Amino acid sequence: MPVLSATLNVMVGAVRKAARQVRRDFNEVEQLQVSRKGAADFVTQSDVATEKVLREELTKARPDFGFVLEEGGIVAGKDAEHRWHIDPIDGTTNFIHGVPHFCISVGLERAGTVIAGVIYNPVTDELYHAERGKGAFLNERRLRVSGRRDMAESLFATGLNLGPTGNPPLFYAQYEAITKVSAGIRRFGSAALDLAYVAAGRYEGFWEIGLNSWDTAAGIVLVREAGGQVSDLGGGGDVLGHAGIVAGNQEIHPQLLRALKAVKA
Ligand code: IPD
Ligand code: CA
Repeated sequence: MPVLSATLNVMVGAVRKAARQVRRDFNEVEQLQVSRKGAADFVTQSDVATEKVLREELTKARPDFGFVLEEGGIVAGKDAEHRWHIDPIDGTTNFIHGVPHFCISVGLERAGTVIAGVIYNPVTDELYHAERGKGAFLNERRLRVSGRRDMAESLFATGLNLGPTGNPPLFYAQYEAITKVSAGIRRFGSAALDLAYVAAGRYEGFWEIGLNSWDTAAGIVLVREAGGQVSDLGGGGDVLGHAGIVAGNQEIHPQLLRALKAVKA
């Protein structure tokens, strides 16, 4: 592991502590209580308990920072500039079904820019971390986005958001259009891990309509620090809002964006 800054130390410590319970719960997943928040949107007691541990640990270390929490909503801090964006389990549907593809995602925003991020899959023990200006890492290994330049050779990830900020007809049209010009699309069910995989050079790009900042904050800094580009679906910088997200290496990001913009639902 490279030498971590004080901020990343705090984040990694909180995530590793929260992950102990997530791992235990995943091994006894059939006993979990699951509630439904909306269309294909579930929450387990693990999501709630994990978020509580993260919130407690981060508050202990940085008492004045605010929060944007998947389960608990927005919590204002005394420090108006700094906010943690937390997804306690990104990939909850996978988790519930015993599919080992989910993660804890914690991003730190300073005045509109994500400055640090940690994404951890407790089953595979893959810990991704990045801090602005200091690079992106998977465990001890420095990350670099993929070098592929052609859409036809590129593998993409995406997700279907069925919540109020989603747009399924547009998504289906985008899916068809990108399938025709690429090497393939994966829909593995964790936007945070999709972004981490772009940072790791496994996918050339990722897009999704209407995600929330807790899904993407940590992944955004990972992709940028691995040398990639992230924008909203219009090509602008509103990446923490609901304007959609497009990520990719320097060559593929503009091509993916152009192909997506040409799609009309
Ligand atoms: C979901 C995952 C999925 C994405 C959905 C998200 P959750 O988050 O990131 O990949 O397609 O839009 O809501 O509900 O598992 O935390
Ligand atoms: Ca999520």
